[in-house]
Amino acid sequence: MLLHGCKPGFEEALARELAGMGHLATKRGRGWLLSTGAPAAETALVEDIGADLCFATFTAAAPAWLEASSVNALTGALRDWFAAAFRTVRVGDAGWPAVFLAAPEIEGLGGRVRVFRDAWLAGMAPRMGRVFRLVRTEDVAPMTPGTGLLAYFTEFNQLHTATRFRGWGQRRMRDDPQAPSRSYLKIEEAFLIMGREPGQGETVTDLGAAPGGWSYAAAQRGAQVTAVDNGPLKAGAANHPLIEHLKTDAFKHRPEGEHGCDWLLCDMIEDPRRVLGEILLPWLDHGWCRRFVVNFKVGHGDPVALVERLRDPRHGLAARCATLRLRQLHHDREEITAMGERRLGPPF
Ligand SMILES: C[S@@+](CC[C@H](N)C(=O)[O-])C[C@H]1O[C@@H](n2cnc3c(N)ncnc32)[C@H](O)[C@@H]1O
Repeated sequence: MLLHGCKPGFEEALARELAGMGHLATKRGRGWLLSTGAPAAETALVEDIGADLCFATFTAAAPAWLEASSVNALTGALRDWFAAAFRTVRVGDAGWPAVFLAAPEIEGLGGRVRVFRDAWLAGMAPRMGRVFRLVRTEDVAPMTPGTGLLAYFTEFNQLHTATRFRGWGQRRMRDDPQAPSRSYLKIEEAFLIMGREPGQGETVTDLGAAPGGWSYAAAQRGAQVTAVDNGPLKAGAANHPLIEHLKTDAFKHRPEGEHGCDWLLCDMIEDPRRVLGEILLPWLDHGWCRRFVVNFKVGHGDPVALVERLRDPRHGLAARCATLRLRQLHHDREEITAMGERRLGPPF
């Protein structure tokens, strides 16, 4: 059995995404669900660094369910459960994560979970000795699959817990007062998930750039940015020495030079099929970009159908990519974000 977290309201989307991979959702609540699948498929989803889930925020193996009549009793139950589960685990010098999460939209639960966490940690210190000193409390499950403690509270006196888990990378990002838009947070989150970002001297084309959050994020890293949009650039993106603003149609824009650019960024309120078929695929086919971050607006469409389309070998995005990650970012609303790197070799 696996436990997954997701954005509230996207439990059904996650259940359908998992069903397409052979996992059956067996139980769900606001912001989480349980699934079962073939053992090898479950292991792959938790352990395989190349695995990809769009609508999950974390996935944990073999979760246990603890419930108690009081917070004190629950703290004690989690200490006993964890001490038994962790007895045979070998901890490396990098330590182990302790992640305490609250189900969304339950008033006061987040604050209570932090109090619970501190009480739990204080009680574990004398029981664990040296190993306890290697604990790292984290706000989200780390992206690298690992062993530690994950406690996901569904109520004040109920939680799911597991010792083997991974995060899918989404997290709340810190805003920059000079950033011209909230969209800035999305591109910062995307760079973090990719583990890559535009560097000094790299070239970036930003389609649908205004007011300039994505362009600003790339230019602040020293990249040379071409920002394509009829609208004005604002705040830190306006008159930035590394941003050239072109007031043209993004669908018609072509990068200069035969080698194209290093990064394609695209965040337009447009039909996702047009963005895929008229921008992303041609840019990859012609070798006009090496890496990309493209946001797709789902709007009233079906987000799972869009994910399936992006992954469908017949439409060719996956075949064109050496790496492809689809995520509903923390800062995405009715959107998903595709991040990837073009497969090198002859264009299609
Ligand atoms: C969501 S905003 C982009 C926000 C931007 N990523 C940021 O961080 O500030 C979408 C932008 O796409 C632009 N856009 C939509 N269709 C376009 C097109 N065909 N050509 C150029 N820009 C377009 C709009 O003018 C709008 O400024």
